[in-house]
Amino acid sequence: MNPLDVEACASALKAGELVILPTETVYGLGADAADPVAVARVFEAKGRPRFNPLIAHVADAAHGAQIARFDGRAEALAERFWPGPLTLVLPVRDEQAVCDLARAGLSSVAVRSPGHGAARAVIAAFGGAVVAPSANRSGRPSPTTYADAMEETGGHAGASLDGGPCAVGLESTVVSLLDGEVRLLRPGSITRAEIAEVVGDLSGSEAEAHRSPGRMSLHYAPDAPVRINVDARPLGGVLIGFGQGMADADFNLSESGDLREAAANLFRMLREADRRKPELIAVARVPDDGLGEAINDRLRRAAGFVG
Ligand code: TXA
Ligand code: MG
Repeated sequence: MNPLDVEACASALKAGELVILPTETVYGLGADAADPVAVARVFEAKGRPRFNPLIAHVADAAHGAQIARFDGRAEALAERFWPGPLTLVLPVRDEQAVCDLARAGLSSVAVRSPGHGAARAVIAAFGGAVVAPSANRSGRPSPTTYADAMEETGGHAGASLDGGPCAVGLESTVVSLLDGEVRLLRPGSITRAEIAEVVGDLSGSEAEAHRSPGRMSLHYAPDAPVRINVDARPLGGVLIGFGQGMADADFNLSESGDLREAAANLFRMLREADRRKPELIAVARVPDDGLGEAINDRLRRAAGFVG
């Protein structure tokens, strides 16, 4: 990581410009959370519906607590998983620090302290909260490499930082702690079971989780149609395999059947498959346990199945 790039990103944020920011999950398109004009640029660059609120990235739990109201369970989750791929939705405390537009007018705010050294350095040098949605144009797969991020929205950024390929490859787990309930709004690499170890079983059904703003049906989607749970290469199509015995596959998420490796490869392989301009992208079945819940969530959305 080049300290000059960190400075350039911090200066761009202070000037109300956008930045391409690496995190451990996916690349983000960052802006000053307190600046409504900068935040409006994010929505514009992504073509993102304005009812879909953004995540405020903070330095640490103390910074988070200036912005949001943490109860005991939120504190315990931050203590256990921050810095890292966990986003907490909490009642907002400081409505100026994360402007109305960034919160889509809600009285709650999503906060996360990212684990990537470059993201942490930029937030520290900037000194405030940074909203950063995934750097893709709305509806497309999240970028997990610098090149993919630059291709998606780099043209809108005043500065950018190459932090290498993202280690996790899927967006953060989003947990809501509103109204005394702990709900999983978006599965991610921190699994439901890991959350439950800290705060007990999660409440709410899947149907409820889909009420989270921004969880639209066709999401994370390449240009080619996607079909899931397929085990043979379709005519004119590309097959993305998983595990052994997939000699037919053009790509393999993980030959050894490792879900972490599959998560890290998922969006990059969807993009690479799409570049071949196939009639169809078929993806093999991925088991639903642990991290598989998050992988299958993204795959179902890429295929347009979840409403
Ligand atoms: O890993 C990540 O979280 C990445 C990196 C860049 O940090 N960011 C990311 O941001 O995925 P984005 O904007 O693509 O996804 C934010 C999610 C959306 O599903 C949004 O609806 C939800 O968080 N969200 C944000 N604020 C919320 C709120 N107040 N209530 C419920 N959901 C909220
Ligand atoms: Mg996104």
